Amino acid sequence: MSIKILVTGANGQLGKTVKDLYNDNSDNFEFFFVSKSELDISDRKTLNEYFAKHSFDYCINCAAYTNVEQAEESIEDVFKINANAVGFLAECCKKSNTILIHISTDYVFDGKKDTPYLETDTTNPINQYGRSKLAGELKIQEILKEYFIIRTSWLYSKHPKNFVTTIVSKIKEGADLTITTSQKGTPTSCVELSKFIHWLIKSESKDFGMYHFSAKGEATWYDFAMRISNHFKDYDKNKIKATTSFKSKAERPEYSVMSNSKTQKHYNSQNNWSEDVDAVVNQILANN
Ligand SMILES: NC(=O)c1ccc[n+]([C@@H]2O[C@H](COP(=O)([O-])OP(=O)(O)OC[C@H]3O[C@@H](n4cnc5c(N)ncnc54)[C@H](OP(=O)(O)O)[C@@H]3O)[C@@H](O)[C@H]2O)c1
Repeated sequence: MSIKILVTGANGQLGKTVKDLYNDNSDNFEFFFVSKSELDISDRKTLNEYFAKHSFDYCINCAAYTNVEQAEESIEDVFKINANAVGFLAECCKKSNTILIHISTDYVFDGKKDTPYLETDTTNPINQYGRSKLAGELKIQEILKEYFIIRTSWLYSKHPKNFVTTIVSKIKEGADLTITTSQKGTPTSCVELSKFIHWLIKSESKDFGMYHFSAKGEATWYDFAMRISNHFKDYDKNKIKATTSFKSKAERPEYSVMSNSKTQKHYNSQNNWSEDVDAVVNQILANN
């Protein structure tokens, strides 16, 4: 019997990365990738009907409202998807004995700490996106026992649009860039997160609960951009200026590095963030 895995929000960068890596039915996994137009998780009726028709062992929820800036003005929409819809999905998973693997964020923290955040640290989101993602976590914890919530940070991939693909395009245009040093976090590759999700399923782990997953180390957005620029010999790095200011509608945590220590007790394959950035930039350059 194959293990049936539903991937919601499959047209996002994480969904696409899971598809790139694991769409070949190896490990006896059978994936069902559904985009927003195929399955809108905020449509409770359609979701119930879908789960009544199909049965899954796992659901990887890659669907989310991820525009942190827009979220400040579209509060109803962001809560509809990141909180209420996540509750609907959790109810469907409960009814159908499906293990939910849900992705959450470092933005559930306020960034006032100066050491890496643990799963047990108090949450206190400071923007609407973070508040909505926390509300989604709480719904899952209320409804389900068999779930994994994976908090991750600063996700990027070869699939546009994210910080890496944006900076690569700007550098190719020879643009001058001003990048902030006012936030510290950990850039995390969708490839590495997808490998962790794959491992969770393959290992048949029953250690349900909350996990932090990011690459090793910490960086500012300026450090992140400089690392990307290393790949462009003809680009003058002095064109990238550091700034301590950051114009944004959404307040951002100054420090959102997460501790991987709980995750590493089970899975210890994280690289330093900079190595993973190199791998993805090389992938992007190889494809162009
Ligand atoms: N990106 C980051 O830096 C970051 C950091 C930490 C955590 N995360 C979390 O990681 C997860 C994956 O993020 P990502 O970067 O892959 O995001 P993404 O690229 O924006 O993908 C999200 C996907 O969800 C879809 N979606 C939106 N509303 C939906 C709905 N009602 N029903 C079904 N699908 C819906 C979107 O479709 P449309 O584009 O058509 O709306 C999009 O394809 C999310 O839970 C996010 O909160 C992301």
